[in-house]
Amino acid sequence: MVTYDKTEIFYISIGFWLFLGVICYSSGSYNILTVKTGGSVTIPCYYDRKYKHQKKYWHSEIDMSNTYTNTTEENLSVIDHPDQSLFTVTIRNLQSTKHDGHYYCAMKIEGKTIVTYGLYLQVQSEPDVSVVSSSVSGHEGGDISVQCFYSSGYKDKLKQWCRYKDKSCYTVGRINTSQNSSVQISDDGRRSFTVLMTGLRLTDSGWYYCSAGEALNPVHFTVIKAEPDKEKDANNELLTVWLLVSAVLLLLLILISVLILFTWRWRRRPEQDKQQIREIKGCRTTDMIYSKPEDPPIYSTINDENPNDANRDIIYYSTIDDVPVSEAVKPPAGGAIYSIIYSTVAPH
Ligand SMILES: *[C@@H]1O[C@H](CO)[C@@H](O)[C@H](O)[C@H]1NC(C)=O
Ligand SMILES: *[C@@H]1O[C@H](CO)[C@@H](O)[C@H](O)[C@H]1NC(C)=O
Ligand SMILES: *[C@@H]1O[C@H](CO)[C@@H](O)[C@H](O)[C@H]1NC(C)=O
Ligand SMILES: *[C@@H]1O[C@H](CO)[C@@H](O)[C@H](O)[C@H]1NC(C)=O
Repeated sequence: MVTYDKTEIFYISIGFWLFLGVICYSSGSYNILTVKTGGSVTIPCYYDRKYKHQKKYWHSEIDMSNTYTNTTEENLSVIDHPDQSLFTVTIRNLQSTKHDGHYYCAMKIEGKTIVTYGLYLQVQSEPDVSVVSSSVSGHEGGDISVQCFYSSGYKDKLKQWCRYKDKSCYTVGRINTSQNSSVQISDDGRRSFTVLMTGLRLTDSGWYYCSAGEALNPVHFTVIKAEPDKEKDANNELLTVWLLVSAVLLLLLILISVLILFTWRWRRRPEQDKQQIREIKGCRTTDMIYSKPEDPPIYSTINDENPNDANRDIIYYSTIDDVPVSEAVKPPAGGAIYSIIYSTVAPH
């Protein structure tokens, strides 16, 4: 009996389909997806953006079944994500006897079958390659680390971290810097290697896989958009509120001060005006000025409302009297009625 290993079976299978002229396989690489018994797995099927609206399906060679996009069954979901140019296939309750076999991501275009991705699914109690979590996330500008475990048989195989979308791979021991993100892979040489991606960009989101030899396991990567620093914002808000409250308080303080000053001045006014009492009786103005010799001279100006009126006939007169000292208008203590008053009366 001729025995074939998995790789040969895969190519024989592809050859059979090619012989029938229905398959146009665009990838050609061979992968074994190793998953744990009873577990579940999600496989990304990337396609060209131009096939966004095409009908796509997941083909199982075990029962030759096609499951079209947007199908959800108990143990199988095939969901299209046109915005990401991919559809995902999730298989649950994995059993070696039921699920081990070849699968393809495919679509029919003008009667021709196009296979975009093919793999051999192998359910194992101890998967050859596994990850702790098949979905990880990090923040823009931050970093992410993923630990990939491998079985002892894969110790000396090539370890890689690859991106499904463009099939680019990073290899253990090498540091690739792509723009601001960098990927570093370190291998403990026994059972796991760690992938560290730093300086994450939003475009780093997507599906990756870690592999040892031909065994692999997919990992979904989400890079969360960096948000403006919330704490800083809250602090700024607090500062603004504080400043506003301070400003209002200051304004209030000024207002109160002005009010107090005015009240105080109002109360003081009669006292101050004792120095100069003006009496208006009809058109006669009597200015009674008490002053001491050392006081500065007092100038009194009479304003004419309309000095340019040609018809005006106003007589200005000023009488400077020695006012008799009566009880009612007693000069302040120590003061005296000072008789030298300069009174200027002139139209201007
Ligand atoms: C889903 O998997 C479980 C466990 O293997 C099985 O019992 C059940 O019948 C499956 N459902 C379908 C619809 O195949
Ligand atoms: C499948 O569902 C996705 C949303 O999950 C939707 O965008 C897409 O148009 C659907 N495709 C089909 C063929 O119904
Ligand atoms: C990483 O660098 C190596 C050469 O050092 C190159 O062969 C490989 O394609 C690079 N990988 C990516 C993803 O840029
Ligand atoms: C990469 O870093 C430079 C400065 O070091 C910055 O100007 C540029 O915007 C960054 N690019 C991305 C894609 O983050």
